[in-house]
Amino acid sequence: MTDIITLSNPDWDQQVTTAEQELAADALERGNVLLFPHLSFLLQDGEGQFLSPTVAGEGKNVSLDPANGLLRGSSVNDADLLQRLQFMMNRFATSSRHLLRSLLPRYETGLEQARTSFRPTEIAGRRTSWRKDDTRLHVDSFPSSPTQGNRILRVFTNVNPHGQSRNWRLGESFEGVARRYLPSLPGPIWGADHVLNFLGITRRRRTAYDHYMLQLHDRMKADLAYQSQVAQRACEFQAGSTWMVFTDLVSHAAMSGQYAFEQTYHLPVNSMLDPSRSPLRILEKLLGRELA
Ligand code: SIN
Ligand code: FE
Repeated sequence: MTDIITLSNPDWDQQVTTAEQELAADALERGNVLLFPHLSFLLQDGEGQFLSPTVAGEGKNVSLDPANGLLRGSSVNDADLLQRLQFMMNRFATSSRHLLRSLLPRYETGLEQARTSFRPTEIAGRRTSWRKDDTRLHVDSFPSSPTQGNRILRVFTNVNPHGQSRNWRLGESFEGVARRYLPSLPGPIWGADHVLNFLGITRRRRTAYDHYMLQLHDRMKADLAYQSQVAQRACEFQAGSTWMVFTDLVSHAAMSGQYAFEQTYHLPVNSMLDPSRSPLRILEKLLGRELA
């Protein structure tokens, strides 16, 4: 099962030895969480006002698209405030990028910076459909954003000003999930990938890999017996800490907590230390065919 590997970096761009770099990549790829207990993201003057759930309006997160610099999901109307919010989120994106550059230089090839998100809403008690309910154990896969086999690596920082931890559950291994559900999953419908892409429902073609990942995500969340009975552990991420994890591989559920930043990266399987540990290669091994 997933372990929490603690590293001591107190700075986002601290120099790291080659041995530590190898250890970090190896630990992540094996499905562990890297935790930096004292790596915090300091807010600047005037940014404290964003620590309010109203900043996210109806949705749960504010997100920043690196492709066009646009903010989505915020209820802030004032142009000056909006710019400050954007500035704060950009700073987090840059900090996380520095951390990756110093700790995981082997991932620089092909690494793509995706969305930055600010999460000012309390997780516990939030109302959503079962599919969007991240308090249920799942592996990350998103209907509109097929990764076509690329990895999803995420960096989180808990910036709660009241010392409240962000509380997760961590579940069984990816191979365990896949072996459990794959035999009963329907295969992709022929041609559906092109139709979804043509209609603009997906950003790019939904490959067979994306199809199976979405099915696994949904089956896990829909299975309440699984949610309560599968081997799992609780995990508290303290305020002022940062953690990093391949969320496409690691079964996770976020149970409670408020005020966090998250940065998503996409990584080609071939940039990994060991591509055979990717969900793509694990699914291909179990199904006996290419999926992306
Ligand atoms: C998730 O990826 O399921 C949510 C994680 C979080 O917001 O802490
Ligand atoms: Fe998730």
